[in-house]
Amino acid sequence: MSGICQILGMGPGDPELLTLKAVRLLAGADCVAWFAACGRPGHARVIAGAHVPDHAEELRFDYPFTTGVSVEDPRYLIEMAAFYDDCAARLARELERGRRIALLCEGDPFLYGSAMYLFDRLSPHFRCEIVPGITGMSGCWSAAALPMVHGDDVLSVLPATMDEESLVTWLCKGDAHVIMKIGRNLDKVRAALARSGRESKAIYVERGTQSGQLCLPLERAPEKAPYFSMVLVPGRARAR
Ligand SMILES: C[S@@+](CC[C@H](N)C(=O)[O-])C[C@H]1O[C@@H](n2cnc3c(N)ncnc32)[C@H](O)[C@@H]1O
Repeated sequence: MSGICQILGMGPGDPELLTLKAVRLLAGADCVAWFAACGRPGHARVIAGAHVPDHAEELRFDYPFTTGVSVEDPRYLIEMAAFYDDCAARLARELERGRRIALLCEGDPFLYGSAMYLFDRLSPHFRCEIVPGITGMSGCWSAAALPMVHGDDVLSVLPATMDEESLVTWLCKGDAHVIMKIGRNLDKVRAALARSGRESKAIYVERGTQSGQLCLPLERAPEKAPYFSMVLVPGRARAR
């Protein structure tokens, strides 16, 4: 007897952007798991809100660190791998008992989602099902009413954690760009956009579809960006 791990995309923040399927599966879960930064409520859990059934056991996975240790630091991969091993072992114990787990993930689970690391560990041994979610980027470009990719435009999705030279290279190549994981990288992103000549079209979106949403031309964006922010550069609108 073994259960099933249902990895549910929770969308970009507005609870009305949850899918009917995610809500239905959540209602039938024995156990609901989610990730959170230490001391924070857990974004995916907040979106799920009252859809988490009273009977479900809740499992919270606190990241050992979020922005405190850089991805380049050798400790990062080692400690994160140990953390994901531990989370997967906790879920495996529930799955061995035949339980139905809902693992919540903001946006879409397979786009920069932590749930992917648990999927990699669990899927060779247990049944897993993925329910897509509306991505943060589609939530943000809709919030900003910004048509993004026209005709034969090429769209690139860039993590702002990469170095400035690599950002410039990618920004010079494509037509439309989504730059995610802004946070502490805002100055670097501004510099890369200026060097690639794309700064004037860039739109900054903070907490898209959530309360406190902000959509502004990047030139007028605040000096500091939170974790839930991204920069959108629309395509060239040449194929009308
Ligand atoms: C670890 S990634 C998770 C992406 C998520 N799985 C998705 O499908 O959008 C986190 C990054 O997504 C972006 N993000 C996700 N939702 C957002 C939102 N509602 N508003 C602004 N940025 C968002 C931010 O750039 C943030 O740093």
